[in-house]
Amino acid sequence: MKPIGIFYGSSTGNTKKIAENIKSNLEPGLVDIYDVKYVKISDIEKYENIILGSSTWGEGILQVDFERFLYDVLKFANLKGKKIAIFGTGDSAVYPKSFADSIGIIFEALEGKGVIFVGEFPTEGYEFVSSLSIFGDKFVGLPLDDDSEEEQNKLRIALWTEILKTDMN
Ligand SMILES: Cc1cc2nc3c(=O)[nH]c(=O)nc-3n(C[C@H](O)[C@H](O)[C@H](O)COP(=O)(O)O)c2cc1C
Repeated sequence: MKPIGIFYGSSTGNTKKIAENIKSNLEPGLVDIYDVKYVKISDIEKYENIILGSSTWGEGILQVDFERFLYDVLKFANLKGKKIAIFGTGDSAVYPKSFADSIGIIFEALEGKGVIFVGEFPTEGYEFVSSLSIFGDKFVGLPLDDDSEEEQNKLRIALWTEILKTDMN
């Protein structure tokens, strides 16, 4: 597998912790983690395999650092042909109508840039009302609920990283 860059935005540390868990489920020696607060275009463009992670805030908006990174940095990066997987943290019990919207917002912002999206995830087992992150009948990335469903995260991360090991090369 080629090296993987994980780029996360996190306000209270949940998404950061998940990024570290994802790294330890992959080949840790091949994975670098970046807080998007400190990322330049050249940090992103050196990877062929990229994982993006953001929490959702304010009932359906991106985490503040990730939003700036997406529109000021990532949008201008040359991502053609790169494999991109997205994960999002949220709270399906308190915000069931905008559960993990961050995944769908990132996905839509990168459409048309020649990216190869990997890491879709089934909706079975999640309880929520609506999410911007569903296209067709699947999530276009991995939603994780650190507030209400923490016990399920371990299994979901294990399943998702197995998909990535096959789809990223
Ligand atoms: C004010 C506020 C608004 C939130 N809005 C949403 C939301 O719309 N959808 C969602 O799924 N989670 C929402 N959340 C839950 C956070 O996304 C969740 O706590 C996440 O784990 C925070 O991750 P972070 O610490 O990495 O930023 C909200 C939390 C707060 C405190």
